[in-house]
Amino acid sequence: MADNFLYYGDNLDVLRRHIKEESVDLIYLDPPFNSDQNYNVLFAEHNGSRSSAQIRAFEDTWRWDQVAAAAYDEIVTSTNYPQKVSQVMQSFRNFLGDTDMTAYLCMMAQRLVELHRVLKPTGSIYLHCDPTASHYLKTLMDAVFRVENFCNEIIWKRTFAHGSSKRFGPLHDVILFYAKSERFFWSNPRSDHDPEYIEKHFKLADESGRRFQPISLTGAGIRHGESGKPWRGIDPTSVGRHWALPGKLLQSLGVALGTVQERLDALDSAGMIYWPAKEHGTPRLKQYADQLEGQAIPDIWIDIPPIPAQATERLGFPTQKPELLLDRIVRSSSNEGDVVLDPFCGCGTAVVAAERLKRHWIGIDITHLAITLIKSRLRDTFGEAIRSEYQVVGEPVSLPDAQTLAAEDPYQFQWWALGLVGARPVEQKKGADKGIDGRLYFHDEAAGAKTKQVIFSVKAGHLTASHMRDLRGVVERESAAVGVLISLEEPTQPMRAEAASAGFYDSPGWNRKYPRLQLLTVAELMQGKGIEYPASRAPASQGVDVTFKKAPKAARRGKTGKLADLAEPGDMPQSEPESEHAGE
Ligand SMILES: C[S@@+](CC[C@H](N)C(=O)[O-])C[C@H]1O[C@@H](n2cnc3c(N)ncnc32)[C@H](O)[C@@H]1O
Repeated sequence: MADNFLYYGDNLDVLRRHIKEESVDLIYLDPPFNSDQNYNVLFAEHNGSRSSAQIRAFEDTWRWDQVAAAAYDEIVTSTNYPQKVSQVMQSFRNFLGDTDMTAYLCMMAQRLVELHRVLKPTGSIYLHCDPTASHYLKTLMDAVFRVENFCNEIIWKRTFAHGSSKRFGPLHDVILFYAKSERFFWSNPRSDHDPEYIEKHFKLADESGRRFQPISLTGAGIRHGESGKPWRGIDPTSVGRHWALPGKLLQSLGVALGTVQERLDALDSAGMIYWPAKEHGTPRLKQYADQLEGQAIPDIWIDIPPIPAQATERLGFPTQKPELLLDRIVRSSSNEGDVVLDPFCGCGTAVVAAERLKRHWIGIDITHLAITLIKSRLRDTFGEAIRSEYQVVGEPVSLPDAQTLAAEDPYQFQWWALGLVGARPVEQKKGADKGIDGRLYFHDEAAGAKTKQVIFSVKAGHLTASHMRDLRGVVERESAAVGVLISLEEPTQPMRAEAASAGFYDSPGWNRKYPRLQLLTVAELMQGKGIEYPASRAPASQGVDVTFKKAPKAARRGKTGKLADLAEPGDMPQSEPESEHAGE
């Protein structure tokens, strides 16, 4: 039985139906923010430009409408909501009115209350947002998680420079960190010291080449006991000081007993005392660079860059967060074997960080596109075997399920069906992409040769012969290698005849012919039948199918869990990525 879960659906519904009370150790959420635009997913085209194909991944639901009014009503009247939450929401509505922001906060309040329910008493939650709503969200978090459980407002410098007219350049996102109770887990994470600091302060080296800095063995003030007495002719009292010995170090050397002078002897025998060359110089303690405890991490994070435009980590999902960011959060607030939940998981950054760090995970997203992306990201990063270690819940598993999805939400149906064949959805039904629902790109010639494409038309409704003719026309217009019609209905005989008359694509690389027009029903796809095209026989690792950008392969569950193949701190790009929240 798989321990990890990927849910397709609205997180409110999934949380209420599937996630048990106090079952999660760490929550990270990065919800989209309200805007006038739809929430888009843009893919980079193969020539690197932004795709004309904008996929509406998530419709703006934060309108003040009946749904928002019903959510508000539930929050202020239902006894399932803490009184403080209902009070805060009433104040927001008084202050903000019936606006999109109030609608957004209603949506968030419902979800935060559920997230509080599923979090263990030892757990923590990190809410990623930006200054547009962070002040309201902090108040809401205070109401749900209680003021005394607030831990940090983390400022993440998400870009290098950002010009803005008539105000200072907005550079940061906000991550609100709350615990569920005072019993929360904290790993006391540390970061490495700056190499420049080591260079500057640890100038000396012992015979074995270990770098150290000499630090004082005395403290200010005169003492009349042993610590004020001379050692080897050096009298600290004469300079108004006393011996102050490093307790931890002595303990590690097994020297707990004896007089101060005896313990100084022990330190000297262990080679821990630095004697200056000059006569009567004061002995000092050798502090070795390799024994330094890392630095405590502050609440301003300037060392985690956004994903550089050309980084292998970048998958083309515009709000994708760097894995280093999630790595820090997961390491700080969870242990191996703990459960990490991301209820707005997008292209799965938290899921991948959790997997890499040997945590269990639960990801939820409302679009099939995100679920498809995460599945390929997991496969590309950890290999095919990962598929047996997680369960996907909420995807159609039978023909009636698929029919229901098609009736409820044709877009989601399309995205799901295209996901079954690994194709990339295309939204526009007009202009350049008229008649195309999805594309799949592949290479079947020597490196550097042209990228070829398969184009898809997905039909949930009644099929007619014109659908086949239209597809044939689009294949010719686009000079596509293959055109595929995916349908819920069984194609008619004339449609099959039309497909058969379209001939073949002759692959130069594979020296094989593939039917130019292909018909596939959803039922066939669900039984495992696939399209016929050159990349269909090549293992994913060969990179013949180039439809989605591949995530870099990882040494899964490596000993160190180091993210060697990802951007390193300090690798800040000079470009100016758009704010990932503002204007979403
Ligand atoms: C800002 S993105 C998250 C990006 C993510 N942190 C990453 O690194 O890829 C927000 C995601 O939340 C999803 N979403 C929005 N509303 C949702 C809901 N009610 N339930 C589940 N997912 C939702 C969107 O589809 C989108 O993929």
